[in-house]
Amino acid sequence: MKRILTGATLVALILMLVACQPESAQQSLDPAAGQEVGTGPDPHSFAEYEKVRVSHLRMDLTADMDEHVLSGHVVLELERIDPDHSRLVLDTRGLDIRDVTAPESGGEHRPLTWRLGEEAGSLGRPLVILLPAGVEAVRIDYASSPAAFGLQWLDGEQTSSGQAFMFSQSQPHYARTWVPLQDTPAVRYTFDATVRVPDDLMAVMGAAGNAFERNDRGEYDFHMPEPVPSYLMAIAVGDLEFAEIGSRSGVYAEPQWIEAAAEEFDVLEEMIDIGVDLYGEYRWGRYDLLVLPPSFPFGGMENPRLSFVTPTIIAGDGSLLALVAHELAHSWSGNLVTNAAWRDLWLNEGFTVYFESRVMEALYGEAVERQLAVLEWRDLVEELENTSDGMASLVLDVDDKDPEQAFIGVPYAKGRFFLDWIEHRVGREAIDAFLRAYFDHFAFQSITTITFRDYLQANLVAEYPDALSMDEVDQWLYEPGLPAFAVAPESDAFDRVDDWRERWLAAEAATSDLPFEQWSVYQRLHFLIGLEDSLEAERMTALDEALALTGSGNYEILFEWLMRSIEARYEPGIERLETFLLNVGRNKFTRPLYSALADTDWGRDWAIEVYQRARAGYHPLTRQASERALGIEEG
Ligand code: BES
Ligand code: ZN
Repeated sequence: MKRILTGATLVALILMLVACQPESAQQSLDPAAGQEVGTGPDPHSFAEYEKVRVSHLRMDLTADMDEHVLSGHVVLELERIDPDHSRLVLDTRGLDIRDVTAPESGGEHRPLTWRLGEEAGSLGRPLVILLPAGVEAVRIDYASSPAAFGLQWLDGEQTSSGQAFMFSQSQPHYARTWVPLQDTPAVRYTFDATVRVPDDLMAVMGAAGNAFERNDRGEYDFHMPEPVPSYLMAIAVGDLEFAEIGSRSGVYAEPQWIEAAAEEFDVLEEMIDIGVDLYGEYRWGRYDLLVLPPSFPFGGMENPRLSFVTPTIIAGDGSLLALVAHELAHSWSGNLVTNAAWRDLWLNEGFTVYFESRVMEALYGEAVERQLAVLEWRDLVEELENTSDGMASLVLDVDDKDPEQAFIGVPYAKGRFFLDWIEHRVGREAIDAFLRAYFDHFAFQSITTITFRDYLQANLVAEYPDALSMDEVDQWLYEPGLPAFAVAPESDAFDRVDDWRERWLAAEAATSDLPFEQWSVYQRLHFLIGLEDSLEAERMTALDEALALTGSGNYEILFEWLMRSIEARYEPGIERLETFLLNVGRNKFTRPLYSALADTDWGRDWAIEVYQRARAGYHPLTRQASERALGIEEG
């Protein structure tokens, strides 16, 4: 991937401010506003949050579903840590800033002097506001751009309900494309929001107060009592229905999905109980899921109280619920204890994959969980072979890169195997007690790897000095690759699959004898992955006839089958691929599919043509990734 922030451009980030105010305001410029603005303590944010910190937001936003604009105002309540620090620097990207004032008693608003700094790639532009002494809240009237990276707007013809839809994706640094704020995971705040939408649609947020049904006023109020970082701010608007699952859980979806979703996710309440048993109290009140349209660029996003998920996990048999276990697990790892900067992403994702595996084990048994672990290990080993040293340690070298680049497999899987290793050394009881205490101790805080390291040393290594050492811990944290003492997961479930595959390939086993239906979803995937580059169209036909793969309703299976179809240029698969690409914008699938097509001599032009038709329905992130995969990116 392209680096957008090299060392050289970082220097260029020391920005001169651009005038955007009338002459008179410029003359009253305080020296503080004229000073250069660079990134703050977090290299991916302009916020000077050690001097002044946002503690609460009050938003009043209107969603214009035709113009694709979110507009209104936000009031930022401030904690003036250094009372002499006379400016507030916020992150913005593509926002139309209309007015900046200080709310005063009696409903008056005092105009404030402000400037937008220069554009700095995906970091956007700093908004610098002069803060007179005593000002403890700032109101910004603004509108988002229709091209905002953090929002996707779908028109009626692009959704299953026929009604418009909008959803946000703020992680890692896209909240600034729809709210001006201190867009760093180091800062947490509570918020209130009023969201106005057309009265045939409903608004939901990752917050308390989500309605169970649409009201006729087209106005929805939310309140977030737990302090959260900006990347967890989430909003969606659409023709939504709600179905209850348990006493504190349920699912929102467009009418077409709601029934299947409620059925698919019926173990949700049980999953929450497992989470609570493992790592303590669920501190967010409700836990609901929002099923998004298939253009959602990710599998899931752990928005607090309301995780967002792709409909492509609705397989009809609950076989793809590891993803729900994952997003739920973030209610502890990530949302409760948060990485302070993106270099520490493993504190969110590595812990979560470990926790996810514990939930999966509790739900489906150790054998199934081990299969998942083996797949993760295999992918990690493969990824590490092609990863630069700086990106192969748990603490990532991303300070001068786009924070998107932190989201590779390493923080996820290596982080998970680090915790597996600790478990292996000290035992389950000890690691669970440690993790429970850790979540309790750092609840609602954003921490760095160093803080974690100190806590581990004082609370686990000190107690088990013979079982693990800080030298070993530091290898995991700071050295590339997998330490020699890492513990590889084992499962014989795949050996049996390998056996079948080999015999089938050698025509020693008939297609109809393959026990595909009896295998777990991971075994089926393993079978299909192992067929990479080895099938002719004829054998594809035989497999398809026996196993109905082109017609599979399991998107993970279907995806692997479509990859094989591209390799073998298998026509029925390629026909299915076209509708797949026109409907599904989940990057995990679309990126490799476009990439594989781009590598063929027959498929590249066709893929570009399909992409052009699909583009309007894709999320900005999917557009970006697809264009890179096809080698047609602009600029
Ligand atoms: N926090 C991530 C979603 C995300 C990924 C946001 C990359 C921004 C950039 C979420 O928890 C996640 O990891 N989702 C995975 C699924 C999970 C089971 C590994 C996904 O969407 O594929
Ligand atoms: Zn995650």
